Amino acid sequence: MKKFLSLTLSVVMILGLVACATKQAQTSSASAENSSAKLVMCTNAEFPPYEYKDGGEFMGIDVECAKLIGEKLGVEVEILDIAFDSLIPTVMSGKADFAMAGMTVTEDRKENVDFSHTYQKAVQTIVVPVNSTIETVDDMYGKKIGVQTGTTGDIYCSDDFGEESMERYSKIVDGFQAMKTGKIDAVVVDDQVAKAIVAQDETSFKILETAYAEEEYAIAVKKGNTELLNKINTVIDEIKSNGELKSIVDKYIK
Ligand code: ARG
Repeated sequence: MKKFLSLTLSVVMILGLVACATKQAQTSSASAENSSAKLVMCTNAEFPPYEYKDGGEFMGIDVECAKLIGEKLGVEVEILDIAFDSLIPTVMSGKADFAMAGMTVTEDRKENVDFSHTYQKAVQTIVVPVNSTIETVDDMYGKKIGVQTGTTGDIYCSDDFGEESMERYSKIVDGFQAMKTGKIDAVVVDDQVAKAIVAQDETSFKILETAYAEEEYAIAVKKGNTELLNKINTVIDEIKSNGELKSIVDKYIK
């Protein structure tokens, strides 16, 4: 009787072990699936209202759109906050799945990454001190111009006004600070960002009426990653047509 019991016990134990092992195998394959169910987005969170940090939390239009894209694709989106001029190399190396950073589609960038459908229009604008004599683009020749390194503002101004005019900053707010202390004469930056920053300091700065350049934003993925690009495009098309994108934008741009 005793022998039978211990035999049954060991059978039960063995069965238990087998069950346990299969269970473990299941959970580990499930977690492998989960880990691929994550997309890494790189951005440069120095760009309100598109991406910025508020009390340690990532906020902004791009951040919310990326989360919505993740939700619709059933994946988690992890944010990697890096320098703007590292975004494209980081996507190219595969360290991030996509870059979303108020990034303008340009022909040069298209040589290194693939762009999604566009989701926002933007204008490169000129911001000057309230008492500035600069009124038009032509007045900028021979002046010191502040830009964020590697942005379209940087690229266009370097072309138009020459290297000697350029003052580059890793964060555009530092350019505004330099302009406030008289170190530079103008800042060239995307319109909504200009508005957001100037709104905090209207007694110091004004935005010129003349648009310097018109552009469109899109998400960048590694060249040839059509699988991800198609998925992203489907969501962008959907949230553009059903109003979800607009309601995110309206939260940030009044
Ligand atoms: N639209 C400009 C560009 O693509 C500036 C973008 C800057 N974005 C940022 N998150 N800092 O070059």
